[in-house]
Amino acid sequence: MAQQLDSATREALLTRVRFYRDLGLTDFYRRDVSAELLAQLSSGTGPDSEAPFSTTISSPSQEENLKPPRTQLPTAPEIAAIVPAAGRAAALQIIRDEIGDCTRCALHVGRNKIVFGDGDPAARLMFVGEGPGADEDAQGLPFVGKAGQLLNNMIAAMGLKREEVYIANVVKCRPPGNRVPEQEEGATCSPFLFRQIDVVRPQVLVALGATAATWLLGVRQPLAGLRGRVHAILGTQLIVTYHPAYLLRDPRQKKEAWADLQIAMRELGLKPPGKE
Ligand code: URA
Repeated sequence: MAQQLDSATREALLTRVRFYRDLGLTDFYRRDVSAELLAQLSSGTGPDSEAPFSTTISSPSQEENLKPPRTQLPTAPEIAAIVPAAGRAAALQIIRDEIGDCTRCALHVGRNKIVFGDGDPAARLMFVGEGPGADEDAQGLPFVGKAGQLLNNMIAAMGLKREEVYIANVVKCRPPGNRVPEQEEGATCSPFLFRQIDVVRPQVLVALGATAATWLLGVRQPLAGLRGRVHAILGTQLIVTYHPAYLLRDPRQKKEAWADLQIAMRELGLKPPGKE
């Protein structure tokens, strides 16, 4: 017997379907939902790993679930439909429009510009930092200050141009005094980052520093335990390395960071410039 969806879930599903239509995705397949799964969904305990455009991803109550209680970190949501490369810029713009003139968390109070992200919407390689600093806040672009210059050098060392990668942050507004984003701030903003990753679909993601690694992996662990290997999230491979600002403070660690970037290069099939 067909099950009735409650109005909130129905509305959320419609919103998600409209979002996909805006992206040019028009074919949707409906699966029967078991009574057991429906019961889990309505109690908020259901697995969301099943549905291609899962009811659990888009309902407002589930979006709320992406904002974890203060003591928990969210895990990356399930992968949604792949946006064709030609539609990715528009898909990112839809996310940017949804963010709007954001006042969802306290960081909006001191910001000048929202720093959404920058680069190739269909990049094979994406970097994720912590949050904008003063230069980024002034220009509305990620990694344009001193740490950004070092990141540009790291990208060039990999044989790539900055325009060929995509760069974003865990939070899109500058934390006062460049402090680490608070749990509430990261929890509020990171779902937009996850959606950006979902659209760009990079083959390799590089987390720059502990904050990015923590929010991407949903675990709070020392960087040392996360570096040097490939993690799998959102259908991409994640490599964790030092934040460029840390490398500016302790340049001896650049060798270690380079070793991490070489893992990324190996996964991308890249050779350093001059070694083709
Ligand atoms: N540090 C970050 O983490 N992100 C930026 O965009 C700039 C500096």
